[in-house]
Amino acid sequence: MRAVDLIQKKRDGLELSSDEIQWLISGYVAGTVPDYQMSAFAMAVYFQGMTTRETRDLTMCMVESGEQIDLSSIPGIKTDKHSTGGVGDKVTLILAPLVASFGVPVAKMSGRGLGHTGGTLDKLESIKGFQIERTQEEFINQVKAINISVIGQSDNLVKADKLLYALRDVTATVDIIPLIASSVMSKKIAAGADSILLDVTVGEGAFMKTLEDAEELSKTMVALGKKVSRKTVAVITDMSQPLGRAIGNRLEVLEALEIMQGNGREDVTHFICELGQIMLSLASVDESLETIHDHLVNGLALQKFEQMVEAQGGDLKDLYRSSSAPVVTEVFAEDDGYVVALPALEFGLFAMRLGAGRAVKTDPLDYESGIVFNKKIGDAVKNGDSIAKIYSQEKLTEKELTEFKKNVKIDSARIETKEIIKIIS
Ligand code: URA
Repeated sequence: MRAVDLIQKKRDGLELSSDEIQWLISGYVAGTVPDYQMSAFAMAVYFQGMTTRETRDLTMCMVESGEQIDLSSIPGIKTDKHSTGGVGDKVTLILAPLVASFGVPVAKMSGRGLGHTGGTLDKLESIKGFQIERTQEEFINQVKAINISVIGQSDNLVKADKLLYALRDVTATVDIIPLIASSVMSKKIAAGADSILLDVTVGEGAFMKTLEDAEELSKTMVALGKKVSRKTVAVITDMSQPLGRAIGNRLEVLEALEIMQGNGREDVTHFICELGQIMLSLASVDESLETIHDHLVNGLALQKFEQMVEAQGGDLKDLYRSSSAPVVTEVFAEDDGYVVALPALEFGLFAMRLGAGRAVKTDPLDYESGIVFNKKIGDAVKNGDSIAKIYSQEKLTEKELTEFKKNVKIDSARIETKEIIKIIS
């Protein structure tokens, strides 16, 4: 076979066979298919798409390109969750311990943030001492002992995705459904859990900008999971505004603690309970929203979270420390009415520029900086009310402040938002 023929075949809209996909992916991982040919192939897929069968073959070739985690020694139905990326998305920090507090094992490998989106690993590393690198044996033993571990993805898992994702990132071929679906699901399948909750974000701050695309991605991923006997459900969630109140690593950990102490915003607390109910039902545990809410706000989820922090070397005193960012700038409403827009993308980028995120993979992070909103879409505001606090290392410039304020839209007519837009199972 020759890579050029397979590129041409895809470019012309034809379907590749299983053997051809296998040849291309294994050649790419082995280094016999070079980056420039794989880039051309990714661009051909971008314009021509892939059939369901091709996407399935690509996913399974990617799974087989690296190590696969065997969680079978852990008793019970092992659960995992994945978000396609968001702003202020601290869901894993709360949902994983909540589900584990019901005795359901949560064995999760998470990623880092890039661009305007955050990553769970960075948030956990804002806790002094927290170790995200664990051997497979330590990972499994911790889940056996306390039902929960969240670690970084092993370098040997889905080698093809590591190479291909980096290539897609610099060749404008990230946002195409078959490549996103195979990238996400290959990692989830290789990570070994029996059931998978997919949080597919939609809106300006997400990869999927429209509900139609989010639905197509969800259906593709759910079908891929089911094909290999993993119970899989996708929940399409709103990412038109940041999730919850905080954006920024330490600030999001603090918000997660606030929610697990029963002091979170009602909307995000309820959202986590709904996700918890779905994740538990995937593990064949049926609980009412009321019981789940009790676990969340009465200390049981928090206890699990603290157990995980301790087991992974984190400092429990540091966990509760406020942000040490030296400059805190409060932003006030300049009108009466309701908040009608808080664009996730703009605020995600704003927080990134403060140091809370990375523009490129090698950028260092400032764990302490970010934004905490006191108002969200749908909230009533009066002129002079506090909208948000911005945590930074340096004083903000007038230009930065003006830009921040410009993105907070207040109007006289209230609009409703809901976190869960649709469930695909
Ligand atoms: N997240 C992934 O893991 N892969 C993609 O392709 C896009 C988002």
